[in-house]
Amino acid sequence: MAAFASIRQGGLALLQRIESLFDAFFGPASNPWRHLGALGFHFLWIALATGIYLFAVLDTGIEEIHTSIEYYTHEQWWLGGIMRSLHRYAADGLVIVMLLHLLRELLYGRFNGFRWFSWVTGVPVIWLVYASGIGGYWLVWDQLGLFSAVASAEWFDWLPIFSTPATRNFLPGVLTDRFFTLLVFLHIGIPLLLLLALWVHVQRISRADVFPSRSLAGGSLLMLLALALVKPTVSHGKADLSNLAPVLHIDWYYLFIHPLMYATSPAGLWAITGALTLLLLALPLLPHRKQGPVAVVDPPNCNGCRRCFADCPYGAITMLPHPDRPGHELALVHPELCASCGICAGSCPSATPFRSVEQLVTGIDMPQQPVGILREELERKVAALSGPAKVVVFGCGCAADAAALEAPDTAVIRLICTGQLPPSFIEYALRGGADGVLVTGCREGSCAYRLGTRWTEERLSGGREPHLRRSVPAERLRIAWADAHEMSHLKAALENFRENLQRLDADARRPRAYNPRRTPRHG
Ligand code: HEM
Ligand code: SF4
Ligand code: SF4
Repeated sequence: MAAFASIRQGGLALLQRIESLFDAFFGPASNPWRHLGALGFHFLWIALATGIYLFAVLDTGIEEIHTSIEYYTHEQWWLGGIMRSLHRYAADGLVIVMLLHLLRELLYGRFNGFRWFSWVTGVPVIWLVYASGIGGYWLVWDQLGLFSAVASAEWFDWLPIFSTPATRNFLPGVLTDRFFTLLVFLHIGIPLLLLLALWVHVQRISRADVFPSRSLAGGSLLMLLALALVKPTVSHGKADLSNLAPVLHIDWYYLFIHPLMYATSPAGLWAITGALTLLLLALPLLPHRKQGPVAVVDPPNCNGCRRCFADCPYGAITMLPHPDRPGHELALVHPELCASCGICAGSCPSATPFRSVEQLVTGIDMPQQPVGILREELERKVAALSGPAKVVVFGCGCAADAAALEAPDTAVIRLICTGQLPPSFIEYALRGGADGVLVTGCREGSCAYRLGTRWTEERLSGGREPHLRRSVPAERLRIAWADAHEMSHLKAALENFRENLQRLDADARRPRAYNPRRTPRHG
């Protein structure tokens, strides 16, 4: 258990470094590592679209299929050939990004607690991706397809499910068009099942990241096209049931299971794949940090504005008719779906610290860190600040540890997720005596609660409610996203911000005008 945790931590540190490197080239919005699920969908759509074309032009008789594929691979290479290669490379891309996505979720520890559903529903997806891809090789009905079909039949024959061995279907003279039609049906049916499984997979996630950015989608499509032109997909010789080819060029992403079976045995391959599947399914059962209390709604303070409903990253909120206010709605939290992230508290209009109530109670709040207590903490810490540039840092518990910045001139308010921050707290801190506010948290695509970083950016730049008031001077706000391993980046951003604040005050020594707000600077 401890060994697993330390390997995971080591792997995560390495992954985060790679992600930062890619950020530098692609930016977080198009960094493939941060959008592997979306890339998976993208590759699946390419495979489906090209598959529809191939199916339309394919002659699916057992005798004709190889010839018809050879025709469009060579004679009609500029359309059919390219479609075929795109189909093949998109399928390879799908398996690669799926495995990387799995690895990434594993390293980030996103397999237990409220995420158990996404994790467990991901497991059958692996089987369906492999079943779809391997079945595709059989359809080509060349020597490789024959090898794969026979090897798969041998594998399944180990299970006591067929009355006659499946391998008998491939004896010379036995294979019929009817059996082949079944293979075609499977190669269409299983990908459709895969789509259904993926739909279930993202059911607990609102606004699932299923579409990559334009540049990531276009770039990856161009990459597949380039591969299709440089190394077009070609077939082996026609399947000959009485004469197997001596050398086969295997697609190792999908077909590695056949050599693995011949290196072990059908029973051995079942043991390996079965054990891996069970291991993945059992991971959510490992002991893990207990989740905090879920969000709680206070009906008298809820005006039914729906902001929490719109911002919840896990679809844990629904809206009901308000029992006491006819014509109004009331938010309802479904505890079994709630991730305890606090993003809803940051979205609630009643969470403004400017409310002149002694006990600040909000429409929706986190019992472990209510907004009223946050206000008290902020007031206390700002009052205690000293120094030439007093800074309040709002950070989150999952990113670079802002608490380490605590100093006489730096007050740190540690939130569950940066998305828990009602933007008005920034203005409240400045009016209370802080010279500047630094907001930090996980980078986009790393946010432990998926949307905290995005909503904070949008709220602070005025693009999302509740927005930061335009009267807040942009030069006194700094946003510095920093993942857990980027402490030095965060420290440097704070230092730089402090220098700027000092320069501002030295420059001016004039009253701090509340300028019309520009987009806050990022550090
Ligand atoms: C081709 C296969 C797959 C595709 C296309 C896919 C796609 C996605 C997408 C689009 C999301 C939502 C991401 C977001 O909006 O934050 C997601 C989330 C997730 N996926 Fe997959 N997935 C696949 C396979 C898997 C597998 C095999 C696993 C693990 C067994 C897995 C585990 C997860 C988990 C745990 C989440 C939730 C992340 C979170 O709550 O932050 N996925 N997946
Ligand atoms: S705490 Fe997070 S998951 Fe729970 S209701 Fe609020 S926004 Fe949704
Ligand atoms: S954001 Fe607040 S006021 Fe709006 S619906 Fe949710 S709990 Fe009610």
